Amino acid sequence: MTVFYYKSWGSQPLNVFIVMGSLLICVLAIGFGYSYLFPGVQPIIENFEILPPDNLTTECNYFEGKWVYDENYPLYNASECPFVERGFSCLANGRKDKEYLKWRWKPNDCDIPNFNVSVVLEKLRGKRIVFVGDSLSRNQWESMICLLMTGVEDKSSVYEVNGHKITRRIRYLSVRFKSFNFTIEFYRSVYLVQSGSKPKSAPKRVKFTLQLDKLDDISTEWINSDILIFGTGHWWTPGKLFNS
Ligand SMILES: *[C@@H]1O[C@H](CO)[C@@H](O)[C@H](O)[C@H]1NC(C)=O
Ligand SMILES: *[C@@H]1O[C@H](CO)[C@@H](O)[C@H](O)[C@H]1NC(C)=O
Ligand SMILES: *[C@@H]1O[C@H](CO)[C@@H](O)[C@H](O)[C@H]1NC(C)=O
Ligand SMILES: *[C@@H]1O[C@H](CO)[C@@H](O)[C@H](O)[C@H]1NC(C)=O
Repeated sequence: MTVFYYKSWGSQPLNVFIVMGSLLICVLAIGFGYSYLFPGVQPIIENFEILPPDNLTTECNYFEGKWVYDENYPLYNASECPFVERGFSCLANGRKDKEYLKWRWKPNDCDIPNFNVSVVLEKLRGKRIVFVGDSLSRNQWESMICLLMTGVEDKSSVYEVNGHKITRRIRYLSVRFKSFNFTIEFYRSVYLVQSGSKPKSAPKRVKFTLQLDKLDDISTEWINSDILIFGTGHWWTPGKLFNS
């Protein structure tokens, strides 16, 4: 599950973010959940301009579509991006074929504009972008950084603010794009919510509980972000939450 949350943000289409290349599993659910959880936060997508086909009056549903093959992909070379973890780089790990890098998401009812890195870098100027979640989310975070770095000449102007190496052990990572004055951050929070201890009456196979109405206790650190992207994957399955 990935949920993107946008604060109002100019009139250009923001959906360029969907085009994050083949590393991503893009399931986009625009953040009603977040405004529900943080009712004080401004409503979402006020100036979200969508490009429907002329003959359609309804907004485009980005979730309905398919992956299409595109020769112009990939949009970046993972071997040249210092923010790709070794474990996430198929090329670095010896995969030979490259076709899997060439898929682009195509909604049924509209086209997503091509990813124009200089446009997006300008859009992000002065902003704080926060990814929250598990390794899937970290994967997307790394991919987003690599995409944006293709538009930055001085690669040394992009750095992790605390000098951390990117590994799963670190709970908070923040990469700054100095010349554009924005950060792209990652918070590890695999369930997004707080966990609780196992009730006495629970069956033996229950390992612990999740408090679905309580966001992770680090969530206060996300509040003033301009874009918040949640993602969590295989943590909700038997074996993780309870012994299967
Ligand atoms: C809308 O336009 C598309 C492509 O131009 C066309 O395939 C489709 O049939 C049209 N739909 C309607 C309802 O006219
Ligand atoms: C990606 O970068 C590596 C290392 O610089 C290079 O060897 C490789 O040819 C590049 N691949 C593409 C498709 O440009
Ligand atoms: C990206 O956008 C800029 C500014 O609008 C434009 O000058 C440039 O041609 C675009 N690049 C591509 C590859 O479309
Ligand atoms: C960088 O962005 C922050 C947050 O939007 C802003 O307060 C600050 O003035 C900006 N700094 C520069 C040098 O533009």
